[in-house]
Amino acid sequence: MALVPRIGFDSVTMRFGGVAAVDDCSFDIPAGKITGLIGPNGAGKTTAFNVIAGLLAPTEGRVFLDGDDITALPDFRRQALGLSRTFQLAHEFSRMTVIENLMVSARNDIGENIFNAVFRPSSCLDQERQAFEKAQQTLAFLEIDQLAYELAGNLSGGQKKLLELGRALMQEPRIILLDEIGAGVNRTLLGKIADKIKQLNEERGYTFCLIEHDLDFVARLCHGVIVMAQGNVLMTGTVNEVRRDERVIEAYFGGGKYQDAS
Ligand SMILES: Nc1ncnc2c1ncn2[C@@H]1O[C@H](COP(=O)(O)OP(=O)(O)OP(=O)(O)O)[C@@H](O)[C@H]1O
Ligand SMILES: [Mg+2]
Repeated sequence: MALVPRIGFDSVTMRFGGVAAVDDCSFDIPAGKITGLIGPNGAGKTTAFNVIAGLLAPTEGRVFLDGDDITALPDFRRQALGLSRTFQLAHEFSRMTVIENLMVSARNDIGENIFNAVFRPSSCLDQERQAFEKAQQTLAFLEIDQLAYELAGNLSGGQKKLLELGRALMQEPRIILLDEIGAGVNRTLLGKIADKIKQLNEERGYTFCLIEHDLDFVARLCHGVIVMAQGNVLMTGTVNEVRRDERVIEAYFGGGKYQDAS
């Protein structure tokens, strides 16, 4: 019997006015794996993520989580089910410290309820204490404890990407969608981000789907790759299979000679 995919993206179309950014597109993200989502600029990758995360309601089609139809669920309900994501452009609160940025991203089941805030303040304090501890653990895991009380706006581009990953981890997710977490990050930090993703996958069983243009980064991490072009899936396969495929080369380089990303 075929395994139920963690995410099923089923015949999804997302139209903006006359433009179909995603066009009758279907793919699966398998549970417990790291899957790459690649393709040229404008292929519809970020739009697909936004539909999966619940930021966009698709024009047509359905999204499944562990076999359950989640198309009608708002984004926060999907987060509560363990779906987390990072954004192509890091969106930290620049005037807040790193640890505060993590704490506001924590899963919060009690404190945001006005009744609890007024009548059960001690439960809110407990929750805040837990968020603080979790934020400290997350900083230690990402090896950026020394930045805890730095303003997020002062971080380097790469450090902001690590913070972005940290904020996703604060949601206690089972699946994380990473939108170009490696873009603009220097080689050393990129290696560190790759190690952390691998560790979360191997030791904690997190499922990842990552959009990335750097094929070496994809090759280092991904068990399988989905290639999108013009709103649809062009092919799926291993990194080496898709790297060599004529259709992929054509989609990326318009028939020009393929050059290795390294
Ligand atoms: N909110 C929107 N309104 C109108 N058009 C949009 C919107 N979002 C995306 N598009 C269009 O949909 C297409 C796909 O965009 P998308 O951002 O999903 O591509 P992408 O594969 O993530 O590209 P990149 O690699 O450059 O990030 C593009 O033509 C884009 O201009
Ligand atoms: Mg994008």
